[in-house]
Amino acid sequence: MKKNHLFSTGMVISLLVAVSIISCNAAPKKSGDGKSFYQEKYRPQFHFSPEAHWMNDPNGMVFYAGEYHLFYQYYPESSVWGPMHWGHAVSTDLVHWKHLPIALYPDSLGMIFSGSAVIDWNNTTGFGSKGNPPMVAIYTHHNGTIEKAGGVDVESEAIAFSLDKGRTWAKYKNNPVIKNPGIRDFRDPKVSWNKEAKKWIMVLAAHDRVKYYSSPNLKDWSFESDFGMGLGAHGGVWECPDLFPVKVEGSGETKWVQMVSINPGGPNGGSATQYFVGNFNGKTFASESTRTNWIDWGRDDYAGVTWSDVPEKDGRRLFLGWMSNWQYGEAVPTSVWRSAMTFPRELVLKKVSGGYLLASSPARELALVRDQQLTTTVSPETISGEKEVNLNGVALSQCELNFDFSVEKGIPDSFGLVFENGLKESLKIEYSKGSAQFIVDRANSGSMSFSNEFAGLTKAPYILKKEVRLHILADAASVEIFVDDGNLVMTDLVFPTESFNKLKVFSSGGKIELKNAEIVGLKRIW
Ligand code: FRU
Repeated sequence: MKKNHLFSTGMVISLLVAVSIISCNAAPKKSGDGKSFYQEKYRPQFHFSPEAHWMNDPNGMVFYAGEYHLFYQYYPESSVWGPMHWGHAVSTDLVHWKHLPIALYPDSLGMIFSGSAVIDWNNTTGFGSKGNPPMVAIYTHHNGTIEKAGGVDVESEAIAFSLDKGRTWAKYKNNPVIKNPGIRDFRDPKVSWNKEAKKWIMVLAAHDRVKYYSSPNLKDWSFESDFGMGLGAHGGVWECPDLFPVKVEGSGETKWVQMVSINPGGPNGGSATQYFVGNFNGKTFASESTRTNWIDWGRDDYAGVTWSDVPEKDGRRLFLGWMSNWQYGEAVPTSVWRSAMTFPRELVLKKVSGGYLLASSPARELALVRDQQLTTTVSPETISGEKEVNLNGVALSQCELNFDFSVEKGIPDSFGLVFENGLKESLKIEYSKGSAQFIVDRANSGSMSFSNEFAGLTKAPYILKKEVRLHILADAASVEIFVDDGNLVMTDLVFPTESFNKLKVFSSGGKIELKNAEIVGLKRIW
């Protein structure tokens, strides 16, 4: 988070209008350029973004009564960060979203920073009934007045509840439920019901570690333990943790994953999300990870967490991240709105040599936007140099690409894909034998002058086997690259002056065998 944006006149105004019981109709204003929303340059067509204004972290993700709820850090008065509210949208299929009024407004305790939401099925809070269990949001109050005065107790944890499927909210009268213990960065609570301990467990970020708390009723919390000092990456402050159990693929074993975002200090600069795999016994987390693991090696996947209360018969661990980076998120060349979320992803824990790997793939609901009329396949071919692919009318700015390569007959120095436009701007996705890395090169990709930090290479270590399978989701201003069923993920924003309309497969210093390739147009969701 950019600390220099913590105060603005907007905040004072927001505080003045803050009320305890919220039911509002903050319909976003009309698009400034006279066009309809979602038709603007660089507007994501199949990713979530608010109609207008600034968005950062996903918050309060919970499934209830047939709806996936997505709350998000939102500043409804500008397209840069400001006093935070919780924006709100729902989806019945994870793909198409309906905007709802702002759920939580700043109040006398402060702005509404990141947090989570749960369904209190047993009405442990007493806010609802077993017949109508409350949806409870657990979030951080960030108090700008205390911050301005140089105080340390800026952040505390609070709760609010809804009895009408998240449409209207009441804040708990005895907030905060956890006072600041004298730690300046003390935020982003993620809460879940722990079946074994029969208690609510909260994990929150406290500067260079996470802290676990437990509660019988979401109101009274006891400190349990700390985790993370000296473990994993520590190039910046820890934020937005998540703790969840997950089955190890193909086994009966369950492990716990402790995910936590870090800013700065990501593997390619700025914001990123790391994870630890181990065991949680209701009080402490013991990591078995021996190296630093990243959910996504790209520059633009931050503050991601998973949905609560996904039905057991579904059983998936569904993840969503903020598709941006604090290094330049407020400067990217969009105006009406700023920022989008990643496509929803399913996380799968795999046992691999040397430990565990948390793989991500696009949620299977992606099938709902595949345009069968706009599908093109590419014949198998051995390629050396460059080979342009016939797109047959599929727009490179709104499609899914599946490219399977084989290196059984030899490994070239580098191979991969290049997206290009008529202005010779390009985005290159390559495997490099010399460095044994996947590299995304956006150094000549179009608009980049908005930040010195944006251009350049994203690199990720990759161990080449016999085949390389690239699965890419390309939207108007982003690529999400899933290599080998999501064992390696790289998400990067890109702002070409004109949309990319040419795709090339390349191989240099040797030949590459393209086994199969398919490009599928994706329908817009708005
Ligand atoms: C992460 C973050 C959180 C904080 C929120 C404020 O991007 O800095 O730690 O709660 O954004 O908007």
